[in-house]
Amino acid sequence: MQLIFNESQDYEGSGLMGFDSSFLDEIVDRRNTNSIKWDRITCPEEGLPILPMWVADMDFRVAEPILSAMQAAVEHGVFGYAGIPDEAWRAVSAWTRTRYGWYVPTEWFSYTAGVITGLNIAVQTFTRPGEKIVIQPPVYPPFHSSVFENGRNLVYNNLVRDDDGVYRMDLVDLAAQIDADTRMLVLCSPHNPVGRCWSRRELENLADLCIERNLLVFSDEIHADLLLDGRTHCPFSSLDEKIAQRTITGIAPSKTFNIAGLKASVIITPNARLQHAFDAAQRKTFGLYDANTFAVVGMQAAYQHGAQWLDSVLEYLAANRNYAVDFIRTNLPGVRVTPPEATFLLWLDFSSTGLTHDEVSEKLQREARVLLNDGRRFGVNGEGFFRLNFGCPSKTLRSGLKRIAEAFSR
Ligand SMILES: Cc1ncc(COP(=O)(O)O)c(C=O)c1O
Repeated sequence: MQLIFNESQDYEGSGLMGFDSSFLDEIVDRRNTNSIKWDRITCPEEGLPILPMWVADMDFRVAEPILSAMQAAVEHGVFGYAGIPDEAWRAVSAWTRTRYGWYVPTEWFSYTAGVITGLNIAVQTFTRPGEKIVIQPPVYPPFHSSVFENGRNLVYNNLVRDDDGVYRMDLVDLAAQIDADTRMLVLCSPHNPVGRCWSRRELENLADLCIERNLLVFSDEIHADLLLDGRTHCPFSSLDEKIAQRTITGIAPSKTFNIAGLKASVIITPNARLQHAFDAAQRKTFGLYDANTFAVVGMQAAYQHGAQWLDSVLEYLAANRNYAVDFIRTNLPGVRVTPPEATFLLWLDFSSTGLTHDEVSEKLQREARVLLNDGRRFGVNGEGFFRLNFGCPSKTLRSGLKRIAEAFSR
């Protein structure tokens, strides 16, 4: 077991003293950069600009230490097959310990190209066709497809929204739905799109049920670093040894540091047998042996030197969220919004506008000329909802919200 790490070398702490965060207001032109968010858009009327507030990446320039590490790699000029150095794993371990209070020995890490890649590998490795996998909608669309496209059956343990608009897990429903064919639960923590940062108590109750009913858990914690208002993340696997032994966790620097295009993600598996099976499947079934040169360099620099950048982003995101929630409550009376505890995503309920889902969609795209994610893709309980990404300069956010308010006032 590799337990040693030197924190001063492997992790550069946070604190914003003297840190210049003016880059957050800079509007970076992302058009014509192969960006899915900005370039892969079908406009309802060609030629008219539409503001993308959909796909979950942010419009902020990446932290300087990541850019310089990548520039140094470019300058080197040779891009042969790349592995992950111990130093990079120690940086990830220092990060989970410092940010979430979770000590992860470097042996538990596996590298993969994406958390959703990891989820698909886990589904194929740990369940059989026809078996059941639980998800908790409304939830990130690839959770649905990673189950049904692999020939497994979906069990919907829908989240329940209380009168204050806060979503909670329904464990009574979950217990009733688990049967002998139910093998796995896919947890989203923090939750996209509802923005919940699940409390320790909520996670413990879920863990008890998973242990009692013998479920494996794939815990997608890709948004773990995007907790707002000083909250701290509670990794599901860190709750206790029993749950750790049946949990496979996915984290990544991608959302955190806005480097999703690098395709670097980390799978954490304390159970050596499960980890072995996961790694073997990744190699043998999927032929994924090594890493992308720039992904490795970017990931290591991010976890080692990205903390200050992230802390300034989190402050900015909280201010954006507050502005957006106030604005919507004041100017869009038919739209319900609950401030998210985490992520840079707002889950907007348009069902009291008096318009159908399709009419809202039309209005957003044709009149407001903004592109949000369609809530239906997150599950049947996403009807009437649209997801807005506020990970952008405040000027962009204000302009998008103004356009929506004007369209809905007509
Ligand atoms: C909950 C969740 N999981 C996974 C992903 C995508 O992760 P990756 O690009 O690492 O596959 C996203 C992206 O929005 C997400 O919100």
